[in-house]
Amino acid sequence: MKVQIPRGTQDILPSDVRTWQWIEEKVKEITKKYRYEEIRTPIFEHTEIFTRGVGDTTDIVQKEMYSFQDRGGRDITLRPEGTAAVVRSYVEKKMYGDPNQPMKLYYLGPMFRYERPQSGRFRQFVQFGVEALGSNDPAIDAEVIALALDVYKSAGLKNLKLVINSLGDKESRISHRQALIDHFKPSIHEFCSDCQNRLEKNPLRILDCKVDREHPLMGSAPSILEFLNEESKAYFGKVCSYLDDLQIDYEIDSTLVRGLDYYNHTTFEIMSSASGFGAITTLCGGGRYNGLVEEFGGPETPGIGFALSIERLIAALEAEGIELDTSDALDLYIVTLGEEAKDYSVKLLNAVRQAGFTADRDYTDRKIKAQLKSADRLNARFVVILGEDELNKGIVQVKEMNTGEQKEVEISSFVQQFTQLFE
Ligand code: HAM
Repeated sequence: MKVQIPRGTQDILPSDVRTWQWIEEKVKEITKKYRYEEIRTPIFEHTEIFTRGVGDTTDIVQKEMYSFQDRGGRDITLRPEGTAAVVRSYVEKKMYGDPNQPMKLYYLGPMFRYERPQSGRFRQFVQFGVEALGSNDPAIDAEVIALALDVYKSAGLKNLKLVINSLGDKESRISHRQALIDHFKPSIHEFCSDCQNRLEKNPLRILDCKVDREHPLMGSAPSILEFLNEESKAYFGKVCSYLDDLQIDYEIDSTLVRGLDYYNHTTFEIMSSASGFGAITTLCGGGRYNGLVEEFGGPETPGIGFALSIERLIAALEAEGIELDTSDALDLYIVTLGEEAKDYSVKLLNAVRQAGFTADRDYTDRKIKAQLKSADRLNARFVVILGEDELNKGIVQVKEMNTGEQKEVEISSFVQQFTQLFE
């Protein structure tokens, strides 16, 4: 038996879980402020949801999906991302009929991609993402971007760079597509076989190729921004002006095409510019996907969203040397001396917990000194010392760990008096 974790996955041990929980709480707080509500979709979907949704010429679909047939012969895929699944649910559950449009949804959960593991790139990772479905107002593009930035800023990150682009509407993309084919076609034999296949099917994907990234024709490829029609240009201009209003700095990068096929109009990424950060600097990516709801058989419904992984957020915190304040003190630790005290502590501990406090005791027969050490390690605010003497007198000694102050309290009214210490 191989006692080893699968490649590209990680155990998050209790000491690290605190950081995760801090972030999860923060995400919930922030989404509440913006009125995004949580949606939970299954970890696996019918494979078609992703081949159709994400696009069958993308790296995700061609190379990275965990797909299998279940025992009923159905093609199933562990979700590599959240957007297609949320849109599937929006259509299937007829959320478009809800009067509260746009539907503002968020999700937080594991995604799976068979990628080459490296720093910041896992095979199982946790995405926090939001999707706003049912509005074509450029103000919601700005809102979604502001929300993503709020998550990073709330954790104290400073070295952030927002990059935005517009892929325009269908008409703009068709003329850009032809220009890309004309640009790459004469030298397409110099490109990888994936790119050669993509040339006619989806030439925009060539710009996102990891293999041919350095090819000189990449840098000189025609820019989508030059092909935007008036409407798309005006839309992008409005998004930028809302970002200006919100005093959000951004850089426009016409090469930002993103790795998923459903995008049009606004696309964006947030990168870490911290010097200690690894090779992959993208923390968050998103954009508009008008047309995806129709692709899944729903009515014409615009959509925009983003996703970020908690793993990369944590890597960015490490790169900036930020430690989140995750200290969670224990209210009480009960130190016992002797069998009788140990037995009594079962009741006392329960009473304290029922009163709403966090409390613990020793369960491994440690000596008193070691018990006090445990209390210290667990960051206990108070320690109760309970021995035979105390029990006979009907009292306990309560010690405040910070000050070292100690006082006697009657056992019969312990919980009541202990509560007063917190008032
Ligand atoms: P994506 O760019 O594929 O977009 O992924 C979004 C984010 O997920 C990345 O910026 C990164 O933080 C994280 N991520 C992706 N792959 C990995 C990995 N292997 N290991 C760790 N983190 C990773 C999407 O998934 C779209 N669904 C985003 C979206 C939502 N667009 C519109 N709505």
